[in-house]
Amino acid sequence: MQVAIDGPAGAGKSTIAKRLAGESGYIYVDTGAMYRAMALYLIRCEISPDDKSGIEEACEKADISIKYADGEQQVILNGENVNGLIRTQEVSNMASVSSANPKVREKLVALQQKLAESADVVMDGRDIGTRVLPGAEVKIYLTASTRVRAKRRYDEMTAKGEICDLDTIEKEIAERDERDMNREISPLKQAEDAVPVDTSDMGIDEVVEAIKGIISDKTGK
Ligand code: DC
Repeated sequence: MQVAIDGPAGAGKSTIAKRLAGESGYIYVDTGAMYRAMALYLIRCEISPDDKSGIEEACEKADISIKYADGEQQVILNGENVNGLIRTQEVSNMASVSSANPKVREKLVALQQKLAESADVVMDGRDIGTRVLPGAEVKIYLTASTRVRAKRRYDEMTAKGEICDLDTIEKEIAERDERDMNREISPLKQAEDAVPVDTSDMGIDEVVEAIKGIISDKTGK
């Protein structure tokens, strides 16, 4: 069983995918975390986001894998668990640029497809329904307005005690959308057979129930 959830940053993909996976006994695969681990590696190598050949050369040396601890996905970069290091703004911005690189995508898509061969998965990302798992039984395209997505990020960050500015976050989200949707290779777009769900005015429980309804309509489960 493969459930693909795609959509822009902050639409609620990981929260929803994690809940769905937990309730259905499937494995949750957060593909964004893999692109983030790769971005962290590139930052550590001091490679500029504009240095295409530098990214291509360096990405060969990044060994990325995942494992699960207490049901949570852990991303391992060259033997180091980097889960706690990949949610910064710097990594977000680098990931948005480096994930447009074909070599980076080739490597991580292969890993994602391999994971889905051996287990039932709920996988979230940008190109899961269009590229990684084109045959997925259920495809969801999760969206929300830019303002709502920025407000969710803002609330998350202020809850952690970080000082941030809502307008700046909204601007960065809009820039990431622009890059993710307009890159040449595997841009973020709704798969033809995906069901769109706009979460702007929905709570988490409501979204989970809506998606369970879609899964049941599609699969009879
Ligand atoms: O979902 P996220 O914010 O953790 O993703 C980080 C970046 O990785 C995002 O800018 C887009 C990119 N990404 C991608 O290109 N393809 C995916 N399947 C998942 C993420």
